[in-house]
Amino acid sequence: MDLSSQPSSLSGKLLAWYDRHHRDLPWRISPPMAARGIRPDPYHIWLSEVMLQQTTVPAVKAYFAKFLERWPTVGDLAAAPTDDVMAAWAGLGYYARARNLKKCAEAVAAEHGGRFPDTEDGLRALPGIGDYTAAAVAAIAFNRQAAVMDGNVERVISRLHAISTPLPAGKPAMKQKVALLTPADRPGDFAQAMMDLGATICTPKRPACALCPFNNACEALASHDPEHFPVKAAKKDKPVRQGAAFVAVNGEGEIYLRRRIASGLLGGMTEVPTTGWTARIDGETSTAAAPFPADWQAAGTVTHVFTHFELRLSIYRAQAASSSNHNDGWWEPVTNLEAQALPTVMKKAITQAIPNAFTKVGAFSKASA
Ligand code: ADE
Repeated sequence: MDLSSQPSSLSGKLLAWYDRHHRDLPWRISPPMAARGIRPDPYHIWLSEVMLQQTTVPAVKAYFAKFLERWPTVGDLAAAPTDDVMAAWAGLGYYARARNLKKCAEAVAAEHGGRFPDTEDGLRALPGIGDYTAAAVAAIAFNRQAAVMDGNVERVISRLHAISTPLPAGKPAMKQKVALLTPADRPGDFAQAMMDLGATICTPKRPACALCPFNNACEALASHDPEHFPVKAAKKDKPVRQGAAFVAVNGEGEIYLRRRIASGLLGGMTEVPTTGWTARIDGETSTAAAPFPADWQAAGTVTHVFTHFELRLSIYRAQAASSSNHNDGWWEPVTNLEAQALPTVMKKAITQAIPNAFTKVGAFSKASA
């Protein structure tokens, strides 16, 4: 008999807590509905899980609604032009996710008749689906007994068992403990409960241990220093790179934009012309590298933190002739900038030169890209 979901077991205690305190999220089926056998749409779960990697829940909610309105099914997303998907993703960061999203939708539509595979292995075989997403979709959408571990779950499990091996080396031990705790009954709710516990009770600072369903068993609480866990390897300082970005506006109220090459950082996204981004402090930040001759005026600097480096961009602005033609890009009405696939760093650069260009700058990513 499976005792893991008995009320007295740890997973049983967590599920009872989740039944009362779960967050209502747009992609979720609430526990009472799930108890009646209603399962979430795998497309919704996959889409939300891809968006939630590196991005906060409040930011994802708006993007999730926008994507579903535009592409209600995975087949619709598969048939969408990649440029439209990239533009809709702009501001969420980590743009390889958007490219992979599209590839995965195409594979589900073309090779699986529009239905997601219902096992962890089947899901992992799809483009862009790694261990985490495969486990999360298998558990949440298909109720498979898969061990799901994200940053919130790492914190909960490392505290529960006082795992002192620093991250990332401690991950396999943590995953093993999550697997042992995951019940055969309600594994999807269990995974979401662990995430909610980490997000609302077992927080990085000042966890609310008095309210935690694990407080009788938690080894970190017993040691009187739950915040000590998870232990993390010392972070290296991020290297700094620099460059210049050129914001040209013509007499028609249009701005000069280009497309970045498809591969690499921000691949396939839209940009204002920039120099290369280098660690050298030479001509790369000056108008010597401007994309075309114009009366370039210095307009300050912007800083943007990527995952692996910090970028400092010197911004230049110029009024250009309406007729000037440059074959590597196009003129776009400033009023249409919201519809472009502009990553956050480019929105910052444009706003520095044209303060009212956007009503809001996407600053949503956990570490924005
Ligand atoms: N973070 C990642 N996946 C999540 C989910 N399904 N629910 C809440 N937070 C999450």
